[in-house]
Amino acid sequence: MEINFPVYKPSLKGNELKYVTDCIESTWISSKGKYIADFEAQFAQYLNAGYATSVCNGTVALHLALLVLDVKPGDEVIVPTFTYIASVNAITYVGATPVFVDSMDQTWQMDVGDIARKITSKTKAVIAPHIYGHPCEMDTLVEICRLNQLLLIEDCAEAIGSKYNNKHVGTFGDMAVFSFFGNKTITTGEGGMLVTNSKPLIERARKLKNQGLSDLQYWHDEVGYNFRMTNICAAIGVAQLERIDEIITGKIRIASVYKKAFENTGIAFNPQADNCINSYWMCSILVPSALQRDELREHLILSGIETRPFFYPAHSMKMYQHPLNSHFPVANSISSRGLNLPSYPDLRDEEVRFIVSQILNFFIQNE
Ligand SMILES: Cc1ncc(COP(=O)(O)O)c(C=O)c1O
Repeated sequence: MEINFPVYKPSLKGNELKYVTDCIESTWISSKGKYIADFEAQFAQYLNAGYATSVCNGTVALHLALLVLDVKPGDEVIVPTFTYIASVNAITYVGATPVFVDSMDQTWQMDVGDIARKITSKTKAVIAPHIYGHPCEMDTLVEICRLNQLLLIEDCAEAIGSKYNNKHVGTFGDMAVFSFFGNKTITTGEGGMLVTNSKPLIERARKLKNQGLSDLQYWHDEVGYNFRMTNICAAIGVAQLERIDEIITGKIRIASVYKKAFENTGIAFNPQADNCINSYWMCSILVPSALQRDELREHLILSGIETRPFFYPAHSMKMYQHPLNSHFPVANSISSRGLNLPSYPDLRDEEVRFIVSQILNFFIQNE
């Protein structure tokens, strides 16, 4: 079946080719080269954050954040069960234990009310992923972390450009991570960024991502990693950043067309809390039942419309199953009924309306 409307395709219409060609012609193709520093500086500036350091993907950015913050075996890290698996796996990489919280119906984000119930003497940090572009409830989260002396890592892989109380996500916690995978709002193919306002933390991140290198060439005074981004990826990133406002405006435009078309249909579209700007990484819906969700996907693919089911909650996967850690009714419900729709910024308004009409047809036929 031909796919006419994929869930995502990156928008690479700016200086991407020119800057990549520059890398190749100048032979600066590895992790040294001018685009790395430019991308990091411009990224921090875009967010109004202190510092940024690039890495090879978002998962590595999470791993590095936990290493830098010294999260280790014996520590517990609170994370929503309804997230992409990388937010959870990174906790396991450093030998710590993920402790899950449920999600909230209103925003689909982590249930801040559930956090207090999960804090123990071993809790060291909270990872707050802003899922599908909507910010978590940051005021409450920051306060909970402050009162309980917990570290806060924002997982902004899906939320660049989203704002809470008019402030960019990624600037509320101790550290924040971003992903530039091909389907992300801005992409470098594979890539990630670690952001913080702390100079000591960014210096530690730069050292650990670069093999634990000391000030002396080839002298490594601790076990480090090669987590570096290439100059070619950074070149694409610089070109993408030049167009980030245009890309996000395009995403917000298609989201508003979807939202209007779904009004009074019984299908819930991505929420947006009053004090938030949702950058709508994924235009998403909740349908009344899990069975309908799967049948709807089959119906849509016949018209060339690709969709994606929501993430399965992490607590349901075999690595993370635990009898004491299994009651997450909201996450289970959202996960089984949710669908990501074509969400790329080049989608035209009439194409969005066609996609919605196909969805509504399915429900009329199955009444
Ligand atoms: C919430 C979240 N965290 C982390 C990641 C990991 O990013 P990457 O795929 O670049 O490793 C993703 C990527 O899809 C994500 O959606």
